[in-house]
Amino acid sequence: MVSGGPACVLLGGGGHAAVVADMLLLSGYTLAGFLAPQARGLLQTGGAWPWLGADDTLSTLDPRQVVLANGMGNRPRRNDNGLGHRQRAYLAACALGFAFPPLQHPSATVARGTVVAPGSQIMAGAVLQVGTEIGENSLVNTRASIDHHCRIGAHVHVGPGAVLCGQVEIGAGVHVGAGAVLLPGISVGEGAVIAAGAVVRHAVAAGAFAS
Ligand SMILES: CC(C)(COP(=O)(O)OP(=O)(O)OC[C@H]1O[C@@H](n2cnc3c(N)ncnc32)[C@H](O)[C@@H]1OP(=O)(O)O)[C@@H](O)C(=O)NCCC(=O)NCCS
Repeated sequence: MVSGGPACVLLGGGGHAAVVADMLLLSGYTLAGFLAPQARGLLQTGGAWPWLGADDTLSTLDPRQVVLANGMGNRPRRNDNGLGHRQRAYLAACALGFAFPPLQHPSATVARGTVVAPGSQIMAGAVLQVGTEIGENSLVNTRASIDHHCRIGAHVHVGPGAVLCGQVEIGAGVHVGAGAVLLPGISVGEGAVIAAGAVVRHAVAAGAFAS
């Protein structure tokens, strides 16, 4: 066990897991260990974290004893369809009765009245303005900026440095690439992929790709 607060098990052992581990410790959690195919990974460059086993080890843990954090990143492709592994892992763990508390880095700026669902992760330097809603298991990555009254669905990834102007609506499972800019009031349908650096001026249909 590392630290001293509520016990948390991390899903994944790669780069995103390392960033989430840091956030967990800053937020007062005890890192009880991580689940990943291998004991070694990028997570282990930040400290010697206990490896508990592969993903199927989850069924041996007690949801009353530990909460979970999703340490899986995702690498979208233009023609992605179906559930990503980050979403699959989250849903499988929920079905076993595990809870994923929402996480917020201490350096994130979150306006009053913002609704952040379970399993969401608001990373370092992110800004959520007033009236914003973030769905479950969504990830607002480093220094992303989400302006007033945006509605973000479940299982969304808003990449580092992306800018969502006011009243943007994002459907479930969307990936917004790093540094993309979405102009005010734009809507993006479920499962769409927005390329890194894109400037999105028109609505994006479900499952579509915008660059
Ligand atoms: C858009 C993206 C999803 C495409 O990935 P992919 O399906 O593997 O596609 P490829 O890299 O094979 O590129 C396919 C085509 O799209 C173009 N393309 C790729 N990324 C692009 C981008 N960001 N902007 C514009 N065009 C892009 C490529 O030039 C290529 O064009 P071509 O077919 O004319 O040669 C990916 O490049 C991207 O932007 N991902 C976002 C990553 C990110 O921000 N992650 C956050 C991690 S924390």
